Amino acid sequence: MSDSESNASAGVSGGVATNGAPNDVAVDIRHVIKRFHTDRGEDVTALNDINFGIRRHDFITVVGRSGCGKTTLLNMLAGFEKPTEGEILIGGEKIAGPSPKRGVVFQKPQLYPWLNVQRNVEFGMKVQGVDASTRARTAKEYLHIVGLADAADRKPYELSGGMQQRAQIARVLAADPDIVLMDEPFGALDALTRENLQVELRRIWQEKRKTVFFITHSVDEAIFLGTRVIVLSSHPGTVLMDIPVDIPRDPEHPEDIEAVRATREYRDLVTRVDAAIHQ
Ligand SMILES: Nc1ncnc2c1ncn2[C@@H]1O[C@H](COP(=O)(O)OP(=O)(O)O)[C@@H](O)[C@H]1O
Ligand SMILES: [Mg+2]
Repeated sequence: MSDSESNASAGVSGGVATNGAPNDVAVDIRHVIKRFHTDRGEDVTALNDINFGIRRHDFITVVGRSGCGKTTLLNMLAGFEKPTEGEILIGGEKIAGPSPKRGVVFQKPQLYPWLNVQRNVEFGMKVQGVDASTRARTAKEYLHIVGLADAADRKPYELSGGMQQRAQIARVLAADPDIVLMDEPFGALDALTRENLQVELRRIWQEKRKTVFFITHSVDEAIFLGTRVIVLSSHPGTVLMDIPVDIPRDPEHPEDIEAVRATREYRDLVTRVDAAIHQ
């Protein structure tokens, strides 16, 4: 079992971290309420009393039905939206707006169509003032990690959907964010491409020791990827369940999806999460 997996089961239980140094806490979401004022003059409560902590190297997966407020929560973590009530702290400071420290992977790959893949991956580093040779080297490393080393010279329109999504992931990771926020990034992909990217993402998370906040529709994906699964209820979104994923993994092949699915722990978790979503 990895450090993070043992920490996940010992530490955070629906609130702030209870062990480790304070700087173990990457994000602290405190009693967050988000209301929207609609064009028809109504107030809609999208999220109500969201309250949990994210620790460094957590891989948080969030599942819930469409419209339950998943993207709204991600938008607040990214700094695109502000809570109506409550606060979200990062390193003890309220989120003031978007920051390169929080990289966002959208469901639809966001690439600059006029730049080749290499330049797309270098873009965030360029904005941050990273020198040209470091940019080129880092971009190459991440393109290799996501399996796109041979596609560096291609333009986005020359790539399949899965390859575009790989390029987007390389682009976000190469900018070295502290936290990677992902909004149903594999939702539009075919099953095989999706499984390949799940395996790669989990490997990258482990190797680069990133903190990941990952939204999905899929209970299977949430449990395979996450160190902790958060289940949201609908209308308004509240935290129904916040549970560590404690599945024994083969140390030689921790990303073997079939082996994970074959465990009793995996099946028990699927049953519990499904029951929570459908209650
Ligand atoms: N800008 C907005 N104005 C009004 N209502 C919104 C806005 N954004 C989201 N909502 C509402 O908030 C709820 C949650 O939306 P969203 O976060 O997109 O859900 P999810 O990502 O889980 O599908 C929905 O009822 C949606 O209609
Ligand atoms: Mg959404």
